[in-house]
Amino acid sequence: MSFENNISEFGENVIEINNLEKSFNGRMVLKDINLFLKRSENVVVLGKSGIGKSVLIKCIVGLIQPDSGSLKVFGKEVSEMNAKELNNLRTKVGFIFQGNALYDSMTVRENLEFPLRRNKILKDKKKIEELIVDALENVGLLEAIDKMPAELSGGMKKRIGLARTLILKPEIILYDEPTTGLDPLTSKEISNLILKIQTKYKASSIVITHDLNCAKITSNRMLILQDGVFLAKGTFEELQNSDNEWVRSFFEMA
Ligand SMILES: Nc1ncnc2c1ncn2[C@@H]1O[C@H](COP(=O)(O)OP(=O)(O)O)[C@@H](O)[C@H]1O
Ligand SMILES: [Mg+2]
Repeated sequence: MSFENNISEFGENVIEINNLEKSFNGRMVLKDINLFLKRSENVVVLGKSGIGKSVLIKCIVGLIQPDSGSLKVFGKEVSEMNAKELNNLRTKVGFIFQGNALYDSMTVRENLEFPLRRNKILKDKKKIEELIVDALENVGLLEAIDKMPAELSGGMKKRIGLARTLILKPEIILYDEPTTGLDPLTSKEISNLILKIQTKYKASSIVITHDLNCAKITSNRMLILQDGVFLAKGTFEELQNSDNEWVRSFFEMA
């Protein structure tokens, strides 16, 4: 399917970024970022290390302030949100950072309770338990409910991290290198889980990765970030078969 057909399949824009710029110490990391994400769509951002992918995700949830440009989530300018609005934004936009550490001193259950308590969403113990069980079932790890993080493999920790994000039923999920550091088989499991979450929760996602298998499995559209701008966009197949040698070089790395 072509890039344009892919876009028209999805709903309204849930994220809209125009002419976004961000510098650190006089060095412009993001120069002219333009991106939209539609409801129920998965967009993969590909790019070399240190290029500004994580900075972009942090701008979307208001953890980093852009220098200029417009960044709207659900139609609202993030830079104009007050503390309460930002808090609300972060319950609707789940993010899974690189590394995504679980709290080592807490059981899986306690790790999953944490976002519910922090957001004061629920006090009803039975309801909390239901949400935890549901989130764990969704990542196929209910049996780990009373385990400590140290007892889990890398892939299991990732899945618990995902469950911890899912428990708030976010409408948008931002994945920062979800398969980095995992073996190929576990990476594929996580990628398939991201796809399942898109279907089941009708979530919209931005997936940052340099794992091409993950990109292939999870993407409806892809963007390649280079020198502060998106230099190429297309479906996985379109980019893989691009006339541009530089674009194709991303696919030859794997
Ligand atoms: N809070 C910060 N302060 C200063 N420089 C930063 C900050 N966050 C990121 N950078 C710089 O911005 C660049 C892009 O970083 P990052 O977005 O983490 O790259 P990546 O594409 O690997 O995720 C890097 O050079 C990094 O050093
Ligand atoms: Mg990063």
